[in-house]
Amino acid sequence: MQNYIDYRKAQKPLNFENFTVEIGFGSGDFLIKLAEQNKDEIFFGIEKSWIPVNKLLKKCKLRKINNIYCIRLDAYWAFQLLFKDKSVKKIIINYPDPWFKKSHFKKRVTKRENLFIYAKKLLPSGEIKIRTDDYPFVVFTLQESEFLKCFSATVSNPSINEPLTKYEKKWLSIGKNIWDIVLKKEKEPESIEIKQIMEVKELFPLKICKGELNINAISHKEFRIEDDLYLRCFSVWQREQDYALEVVLLEKDFLQAFFITAKNKGEYFIIDVSKFSEILKTEGVQKALNFLAKLFMEVL
Ligand SMILES: C[S@@+](CC[C@H](N)C(=O)[O-])C[C@H]1O[C@@H](n2cnc3c(N)ncnc32)[C@H](O)[C@@H]1O
Repeated sequence: MQNYIDYRKAQKPLNFENFTVEIGFGSGDFLIKLAEQNKDEIFFGIEKSWIPVNKLLKKCKLRKINNIYCIRLDAYWAFQLLFKDKSVKKIIINYPDPWFKKSHFKKRVTKRENLFIYAKKLLPSGEIKIRTDDYPFVVFTLQESEFLKCFSATVSNPSINEPLTKYEKKWLSIGKNIWDIVLKKEKEPESIEIKQIMEVKELFPLKICKGELNINAISHKEFRIEDDLYLRCFSVWQREQDYALEVVLLEKDFLQAFFITAKNKGEYFIIDVSKFSEILKTEGVQKALNFLAKLFMEVL
């Protein structure tokens, strides 16, 4: 079984039902334990960093685990892009990054937009179980969940007799507090404004009727294409008459890095995403291609 899901290539939404998701699995040991104890169930790990993903994949291979899938993506987008509504049985979040500073609250995995999207994907009476050692995070999570009016919440302290990791046991034995929050879905969440990106089936290359391009006019520059769509252009590589431009596109907070090529066809150029760049094809990427093509028509 292929444990890793490439969200750019996968048929979406995934055809998974009644499964458990762990957000921010870190070492992956918790997820592996769950999967080994429940071999007839499916588990899905979401991580925003590659290091934990690679560690988990190695462990899955070594232990021949075939009921874990994982992805490297921000939890919000993983839920938004991949899962069917009302398909997830349980969401587990162990020791989420608390993002202490007020200016960083927007990065918390339990902010209301995230809880909204989790609630949409949870089965009726599905639940989110969060364990944290940060009390302000507990208060924040409860406030955000109250806003959506779709969860019942319980907060408790785990006891030292529960199955805990050695760190947790140590923390409890030295009097450090740990909190468990359970948010049980009671009904569908009230609708709120959320970030969405639209995937497209195909990206269309652009033809530029010019014999020469002033490509340097865009290298190392930043453009606001429209609200919530920003393009940053880095270096340009030239090979004979063809160019490759390194870009980063920020579309409603969804970040993609890729190469755009401008291929010389004699009388004209073809502007396209490099065939070596794996990307999620979105409306924003098409808009970026259109924007660059228009800019190339103007500059020189
Ligand atoms: C403090 S660590 C806890 C790791 C593990 N759950 C544990 O208990 O040891 C938090 C983890 O969440 C991941 N993470 C943070 N924000 C995330 C997000 N928005 N989406 C996915 N993973 C995230 C981090 O990469 C990190 O591995």
